[in-house]
Amino acid sequence: MMFARVARRTFTSSAVNPYKVTVLGACGGIGQPLSLLLKLNDKVTDLRLYDIKNAKGVATDISHIPTNSTVTGFSAEEADGLKNALKDTELVLIPAGVPRKPGMTRDDLFNINAGIVYDLATAAAENAPNAAVLVISNPVNSTVPIVAEVFKKKGVYNKKKLFGVTTLDSIRASRFISQVANTNPTQEHVSVVGGHSGITIIPLLSQTKYANTLSKEQRDALIHRIQFGGDEVVKAKNGGGSATLSMAQAGAKFANAVLSGFAGEKNVTQASYVDSPLYKSEGIEFFASPVTLGPDGVQEIHPIGDISAEESELLKECKETLKKNIDKGIKFADSKQ
Ligand code: NAD
Ligand code: LMR
Repeated sequence: MMFARVARRTFTSSAVNPYKVTVLGACGGIGQPLSLLLKLNDKVTDLRLYDIKNAKGVATDISHIPTNSTVTGFSAEEADGLKNALKDTELVLIPAGVPRKPGMTRDDLFNINAGIVYDLATAAAENAPNAAVLVISNPVNSTVPIVAEVFKKKGVYNKKKLFGVTTLDSIRASRFISQVANTNPTQEHVSVVGGHSGITIIPLLSQTKYANTLSKEQRDALIHRIQFGGDEVVKAKNGGGSATLSMAQAGAKFANAVLSGFAGEKNVTQASYVDSPLYKSEGIEFFASPVTLGPDGVQEIHPIGDISAEESELLKECKETLKKNIDKGIKFADSKQ
């Protein structure tokens, strides 16, 4: 009797949220824990894992977890592996590419990762033109414009369905501010806007309840730590890569938000780097700010709100760098046939 009740409940929840999700680069430092977390998400019923190495092994391993989704591995060696991983999927996460080593900037990854993202975006545009694409591969400020250009070339670009994942900056901000204020990080929220690299990451501390209680030294240190949290991990891993586990949590959180929007849940708002009207008149095509997610992807892009004079200075510098990063991505995509 008890068993029948449990079984019925499990069936109902999966039937309500039957989403197909594909991870490209699923066997890397981010890809594996991200795929694990997606296997635990009951909105996902068909999880497809693609990588140039070991996708079948990782998929078989994860597939033994008793949640109500299928997990399939697709390798680059098999004919149509990438195509089949993408066919009619609804959400594509891209953590494929190389990570930083100490001394490198995210922009130093451009030469390798731009080509990887270009090729994967081409396959996504051809096989899953209606899917939401969540770009994790760095430099995000440039890889997102590359995906946009690829989809435009293929005639299937939908700006509501393209997202640069900046959630790691948001979760770091919650954690770091809670360490200064000695509070529960799960109850802390800091709006982080701009882009995803160094000075393009702008945490709006003036909008938090600590606006008037942090000293200038505390504020400057906190801003710096949020902007350069990635470097903290790269340095600590000492040549072994960059953030993977916290990024997997961030990626799974953002994917869940997009799926919640698809499912019609209300008031799902997360920061993301999107094709944004906010600073287009200044030539900045993409910008991260709070975005409300809905059944079609982006439902509303919120302005950044009131900011302090200090934050206005940060915004000015952010825009200069962002513009260059975006132009670099667009130029790269346009140079490819
Ligand atoms: P990793 O080297 O551990 O994993 C990358 C994976 O991508 C590997 O399994 C590799 O085989 C795979 N790959 C490479 N080329 C591929 C292709 N053409 N098709 C499919 N798979 C391919 O690296 P990682 O630590 O997982 O980091 C991945 C990327 O994510 C890096 O660019 C890193 O800078 C970025 N990153 C972004 C954020 C963010 O906040 N957006 C955070 C952390 C890392
Ligand atoms: C991060 O913020 O941790 C990632 O962008 C990876 C990196 O290179 O720092």
